[in-house]
Amino acid sequence: MADPFISVAERLAPAFAAVAGGACDPVVRPSDRADGQANGALALAKKLGLQPREVAQQVLDAAGDVSDMLASTEIAGPGFINLVFSNTFIAEQLSEATHNPRLGVRASSDPHTVVVDYSAPNVAKEMHVGHLRSSVIGDALVRALMFVGHTVVRENHIGDWGTPFGMLIEHLIDMGEDNAANELGVGDLDGFYKAARRKFEESDEFKGRARARVVMLQGGDEDTLRLWRTLVSESTRYFNQVYRQLDVLLTDDDLMGESAYNPMLAPVVERLREAKLLEESDGADVVFVEGFTNRDNEPLPLIIRKGDGGYNYATSDLACVIDRVERIGARSLLYVVGAPQAQHLQMVEAVARKAGWLPEGYIMNHVSFGSVLGADRKMLKSRSGGETVKLNALLDEAVERAEISVAEKNPDMSAADRTAVATMVGIGAVKYSDLSSDRVKDYIFDWDRMLSFEGNTAPYLQYAHARICSIFRRAGIDRAAIRDVVPTLVEVQERDLALRILRFDSAVWEMIDTLGPHKLCTYLFDLATDFTSFYEHCPVLKADNDAMRDSRLALCDATARIMSEGLLLLGIRAPEQM
Ligand code: ARG
Repeated sequence: MADPFISVAERLAPAFAAVAGGACDPVVRPSDRADGQANGALALAKKLGLQPREVAQQVLDAAGDVSDMLASTEIAGPGFINLVFSNTFIAEQLSEATHNPRLGVRASSDPHTVVVDYSAPNVAKEMHVGHLRSSVIGDALVRALMFVGHTVVRENHIGDWGTPFGMLIEHLIDMGEDNAANELGVGDLDGFYKAARRKFEESDEFKGRARARVVMLQGGDEDTLRLWRTLVSESTRYFNQVYRQLDVLLTDDDLMGESAYNPMLAPVVERLREAKLLEESDGADVVFVEGFTNRDNEPLPLIIRKGDGGYNYATSDLACVIDRVERIGARSLLYVVGAPQAQHLQMVEAVARKAGWLPEGYIMNHVSFGSVLGADRKMLKSRSGGETVKLNALLDEAVERAEISVAEKNPDMSAADRTAVATMVGIGAVKYSDLSSDRVKDYIFDWDRMLSFEGNTAPYLQYAHARICSIFRRAGIDRAAIRDVVPTLVEVQERDLALRILRFDSAVWEMIDTLGPHKLCTYLFDLATDFTSFYEHCPVLKADNDAMRDSRLALCDATARIMSEGLLLLGIRAPEQM
């Protein structure tokens, strides 16, 4: 069982192969003229030096009886094969999908371990909207990859090491540990960081202390480490608040910050030296990789160890590749990181490949994304106009705003229900507006649009789901019982909806293959749209007879299940009432 377009392509493939004398892709696509169109005969005819229509006919002859799947096949135009699915086939497939634990989505044919590196904010620094995007996109990918059977390891590569910790620890000491912990624990990471920075710039005495502190930190001084741990734990406490509010899967178990790789940095240098990749440049240990140049077109090195003996961000990322491949046993490494780090990641990958740490067949993929812009198309600003948007305040605002629209839509809902629903709608709206546009592009953060009950928004999809739940509630019908009904597809809207439901498989796979959650969003929006026209044209509870009513209820149930499962794969909850 699979998307019918895939099933029919698989069914026709042997016929194409027989005519071609070897493997040949039928190339089936949805079409306006029929359900689908197989275009493979055109290329094949060229290869064989025959008439395309003749080749198409040979293919159909070779395919034999396909009536269990197709109601009609017709050769059209310059040799297309138009395909119309039989209603019985669609109905049977739908019934099978609703009894399948993955609702008809194919399992991976190559399940393996995938590391998803996402979120990754920096300790004692405000999480910015880029970290929000990474968290939301990464989490959706994690869920989809797990759904099809991969073993997924989440890693939160927080920035918890490096020279800034000297000044941060000294500032912590100046403030008094308790005061500092309070400020950090409530999420005023930015104020803390900026104050430390200011002192560092203004006072030589402070600068001196900060530098000495870095040395102590790197030297493993117990008391310094304890202070460093305070900074880390107060910051992660704040990150966790945001994660819970945002409803992503990340927990402390997923923390694997830069500091975790400290013991592996010296071996990275050793292994690079053994592989004869290490060179010296201006006193630093570097690796040159082909294809990377600076603005003046000079070869650009990846700096592994600076002249002062300190290691770099790149060094810990190399250790990280080794760890993921050799310890975790991952075959795919996904980095959900903003576009500005593209070159860094490309260089890390190039060096890892050259050193043999990423063997052939192992994937390192930068899941890049654009910026979040305000309505003025500039970088998003906070409510108070400040430059950094506090994520927890942003998420609170989403829920507050959703609460107002939920109250308008359903004034009779109890206060407790309203808060629960508003949380799902508000957070869902923020996540969906991020996920529904192509991730590589910038997107505009627009409260009114994302919270609208119309258009390609979370509330629209959630509402379609809630409406179906309410049909069952009103009629007092058990949804599980209706699942055994094989629908009868009479009206075109019933048939379109059924066929759409069956395309969930391809939608999930397209999202995975392109690492693009917006593919699934577009599908869910189409599903909601098809459901709306079905519901307008086909009375359900007032259907002409019981059989018709049950058949339509089965379509409603399947739609709602795909909707809530699809939203869940995006990390969004679907309330049962709105
Ligand atoms: N902490 C970094 C930042 O905020 C992102 C880390 C991404 N992951 C990695 N393995 N480099 O920009």
